[in-house]
Amino acid sequence: MLVRNLHLKEKDAILELGRKIFREEDEIPLLIKALSLCSLELSFVAVDSTTACILGFTLVCSKSPTNYYVDFMKRIPNCYELAFIGIHPNGQGKGLGTRLLKETLLAIFQSSAKPFTCWLLVDTINEGAIKLYEKMGFRRWCKTLPPITPLPGYIMGIHSRRLIKSQYKHYANVLYNKPQIHLVLV
Ligand SMILES: CC(C)(COP(=O)(O)OP(=O)(O)OC[C@H]1O[C@@H](n2cnc3c(N)ncnc32)[C@H](O)[C@@H]1OP(=O)(O)O)[C@@H](O)C(=O)NCCC(=O)NCCS
Repeated sequence: MLVRNLHLKEKDAILELGRKIFREEDEIPLLIKALSLCSLELSFVAVDSTTACILGFTLVCSKSPTNYYVDFMKRIPNCYELAFIGIHPNGQGKGLGTRLLKETLLAIFQSSAKPFTCWLLVDTINEGAIKLYEKMGFRRWCKTLPPITPLPGYIMGIHSRRLIKSQYKHYANVLYNKPQIHLVLV
């Protein structure tokens, strides 16, 4: 399994995979927007080394693809949205989501010269995803209800300070004015 940055030419393949994972009526239109707005440097794919098939992806945007709750985020400086994380239905529950999310947060950490916040929206009924986010240090910030979001959801977030404590604790002395420091995944 190879985890690497998303390439521009792979956007159609991500959309095709996304249609196997996400709801057509509300999530696929957002996926299309996120694909046009996402940062390739901060978005990742997990690729099967034998078949070269994409099994999972993350998309990170610094400009949110949604209008629903964007006002809430405008007040938070240096903010990144984890707009999508998706694993092929046959590949779920095998640690791929964890690996992709760690790579993604590490990339944001390494590319950001100043403290940052990463946030996301998750349906309240999506217990598997919520467990994954909480395991990575995300906290539930607030609940959103229809019509703000199509389903009841949580906005969850993590600040880089907490990321250092929960994931990169061996590097708690890392300062943002030392961007060349090398971090490893734990
Ligand atoms: C949510 C998703 C990204 C998780 O990726 P994954 O590769 O399946 O998850 P992992 O195998 O890395 O598991 C990570 C943790 O998530 C939790 N988890 C994942 N799937 C779960 C499930 N079905 N039920 C309960 N917990 C689950 C577990 O706590 C697990 O940690 P553990 O193994 O240490 O207990 C993936 O299942 C997926 O793509 N789901 C459909 C799309 C989706 O819901 N995306 C998120 C939208 S906000």
